[in-house]
Amino acid sequence: MESSQPYEPSTQTNQPFFNHNPTSLKIAVIGFGNFGQFLAKAFVRQGHTVLAHSRSDYSATAQKLGVSFFSDPDDLCEQHPEVVVLCTSILSTEKVIKTIPFQRLRRNTLVVDVLSVKEFPRDLLLSYLPPEFDILCTHPMFGPQSGKLSWVGLPFVFDRVRIGSGDYRTDRCDEFLGIFAREGCRMVEMSCAEHDKFAAGSQFVTHTMGRVLERFRLESSPINTKGYETLLNLVHNTAGDSFDLYYGLFMYNKNAMEQLERLDMAFEGLKKELFGNLHEVCRKQLFGHTEGITESITQSENKIPKFLPPSPMKVGIPEFLNGIGKGVETHVAKLESEIGDFHKLLVTRTLKLKKLGVPCKHVMLPPLLSSLN
Ligand SMILES: NC(=O)c1ccc[n+]([C@@H]2O[C@H](COP(=O)([O-])OP(=O)(O)OC[C@H]3O[C@@H](n4cnc5c(N)ncnc54)[C@H](OP(=O)(O)O)[C@@H]3O)[C@@H](O)[C@H]2O)c1
Repeated sequence: MESSQPYEPSTQTNQPFFNHNPTSLKIAVIGFGNFGQFLAKAFVRQGHTVLAHSRSDYSATAQKLGVSFFSDPDDLCEQHPEVVVLCTSILSTEKVIKTIPFQRLRRNTLVVDVLSVKEFPRDLLLSYLPPEFDILCTHPMFGPQSGKLSWVGLPFVFDRVRIGSGDYRTDRCDEFLGIFAREGCRMVEMSCAEHDKFAAGSQFVTHTMGRVLERFRLESSPINTKGYETLLNLVHNTAGDSFDLYYGLFMYNKNAMEQLERLDMAFEGLKKELFGNLHEVCRKQLFGHTEGITESITQSENKIPKFLPPSPMKVGIPEFLNGIGKGVETHVAKLESEIGDFHKLLVTRTLKLKKLGVPCKHVMLPPLLSSLN
């Protein structure tokens, strides 16, 4: 974790938070799961009174953390918390908001959300909350894993969506933000729309890669490089988050789909480049012109170097097998229907070819192809 200067009073966004003595707030956390508990610990540590409500019964956990747990949202609201922090899953937020008896809260309560997407809860809060309630949309951009030891230097994004006039309201909002500033977070004020744009290109991509590598079953080895350790850490950091959270990042951030498609295209592009080079090497081995093969691999921009004669013919499965001869050309139809195209044939394992009745052992496969099998 980076150890940076926790607070920069000269920057506009950090300016207000330490201007007065901290006062204790009564904070209600709604959604007392993984992240709700993580935040509550910091609130308690800083001397605030913390109440909680959740779908599941967390009375025992709450007691250990010094938090008062209320199974009934009416009972919680009747305690008149000054700040209500919504910490439910993105997917359940609307349902949960509908169950909160706002009429039992004080008329000017500050409602804060900490969802990992921002335009979605902003719109929900604006449409469901009584107009006299204050709204602060936030995203602490760290979690129980990445913020386990310290929050110093970790970004905390916020948008004062609707804070009424008057010292009490503005001070209360600053007081709440001060909790994170005091922990050393890097306070970043930006609109919900801007957040979602940046977060799709960074956080969503990070979670996606973490989940892809988790499915890939990345394992530690005795010769881990530093880069590989980074990948293992990425998997470790993202595996702790629920799938609901990840799905919420995708479903409720309109920019996420574009990033997923870009990732897909980048992966395909890379594969094409590799197979393009492989294709060229095999073509040379089949049809001669061995000069320039090495160069063709290193030229990533142009797959076929300019000094090589243009490809005399397209290499498909028939051309390839005819080039080998020795009877394998009789298997063209079978391989075309079972394997598909030449690129796929290049990476098909010997075992599969044998199962298809193609006598690999007796075929003089090009050395590169043999080494793949
Ligand atoms: N984890 C992080 O690193 C992180 C960081 C920043 C922001 N956030 C945000 O914090 C929020 C909570 O995240 P999380 O990590 O705790 O995991 P999550 O899976 O996103 O949310 C779990 C919470 O949602 C509640 N919940 C889920 N489905 C529900 C339903 N149908 N009805 C009522 N409540 C429901 C759970 O209540 P019960 O436990 O009572 O079932 C629990 O409190 C999310 O909005 C997430 O985007 C998380």
